[in-house]
Amino acid sequence: MSATFLEIRPRELKDELYELDGISSATIDAHHRLYQGYVMKRNEILAKLAAVDLEAANQVYSDVRALKIDLTFAIGGIKNHEIYFEHLGGDGGNPSGAIATLIERDFGSANNWRADMKATGMGGRGWAWTAFDWDEGRLFNYIGDAQNTFPVWNATPLVALDVYEHAYFLDYQTDRGAYIDAFFRNLDWDVVNGWIRAYRIPTG
Ligand SMILES: [Fe+2]
Repeated sequence: MSATFLEIRPRELKDELYELDGISSATIDAHHRLYQGYVMKRNEILAKLAAVDLEAANQVYSDVRALKIDLTFAIGGIKNHEIYFEHLGGDGGNPSGAIATLIERDFGSANNWRADMKATGMGGRGWAWTAFDWDEGRLFNYIGDAQNTFPVWNATPLVALDVYEHAYFLDYQTDRGAYIDAFFRNLDWDVVNGWIRAYRIPTG
């Protein structure tokens, strides 16, 4: 008997996601279907794990190993995209409120943060995240190559920039930089500030 689990359902998209500046509805629709796939696979993997043969665990190959590794990809795909969709649909521009205070303190300016985040996104193969590291008490822009690489422990993501080609190829072909600029134009800083309040991230 492995861990018990609860099935989860995909979140619906906000209406604002279909009115983005520079990211088309066709891209958003296709992207949302990919996200739904991660949710379905997460449920499927956990159902299989609930019945897995624990005695057969093996580091070279075993069902428990294969399922638990790919579970991290599915869960990463869920969490990353839920942040991504939730904090798009705003007016972009410079950060305001608590996130502006943190960015100013830890990057020096909004322009510095944007430049570093864009470079992180250009350098990553899947994701760039601005996250608050609870041990250091600071923001940092982390790089990711896939849904499950390379988050760090005890850090809370506040901005999640998807740079997988499915996020932009339809609208920009290979011009990832133009897509990242569009991503910045559509960020909803009020949503980010809501997370800072909900998670009680200190800003002083
Ligand atoms: Fe994606």
